[in-house]
Amino acid sequence: MSGHTDGVSFPVRGHLDPEDSRIAPSPDFVCLSALRNPNAVPTTVMPLDAILNQLDPLHIQELQKPQYILQSQLTFRDGMEEILGQELLVDDAQLLFRMQSGFWVRYSHSSTQPADAGETPAKQAMHALAQACLNCVIPVALVPGDIAIVNNRIALHGRTKIGEGHGGESRWMLRTYGLDTSELDESQRHPDSTFMLFP
Ligand SMILES: [Fe+2]
Repeated sequence: MSGHTDGVSFPVRGHLDPEDSRIAPSPDFVCLSALRNPNAVPTTVMPLDAILNQLDPLHIQELQKPQYILQSQLTFRDGMEEILGQELLVDDAQLLFRMQSGFWVRYSHSSTQPADAGETPAKQAMHALAQACLNCVIPVALVPGDIAIVNNRIALHGRTKIGEGHGGESRWMLRTYGLDTSELDESQRHPDSTFMLFP
């Protein structure tokens, strides 16, 4: 699985979805707890610093322009259709955000495409980003009991092929999300839950 941030179709913290202000931000961090990993399949992490070092300044500029379409990732697609009535799709999204402390990223290799067809600078920048991700992979084979916390703003993550197994003694990772919710609006929460964020 190629590099991505989780919840890519949700806004980054401090921003709103352009069409629905109730959509809460994507997680600040992703926590993976390894329960079983019999084939030592590595989780992969790609630090944004290293990725940016490989990119041309022109690519970095393109990635900050609102010219990409983001689809909901598979994990979220059914839930989005159930709650919103449609898959959450974001037009005119930027992939890189200049923050005080450096850049933040939102990107998913399988769920991002340039808004305009053709061999555009937007597309070339996206390809450069994908290639840089591949060059910056740090593999981490988690063993049962390990916990990996990945910053979902300044790193991408993925994993190598996990095979077909389900259940039994196959690979089992628990995923947990963390988010600074201090600036969320009440409408970005489910009213009947202390922890569920909309959608
Ligand atoms: Fe993920």
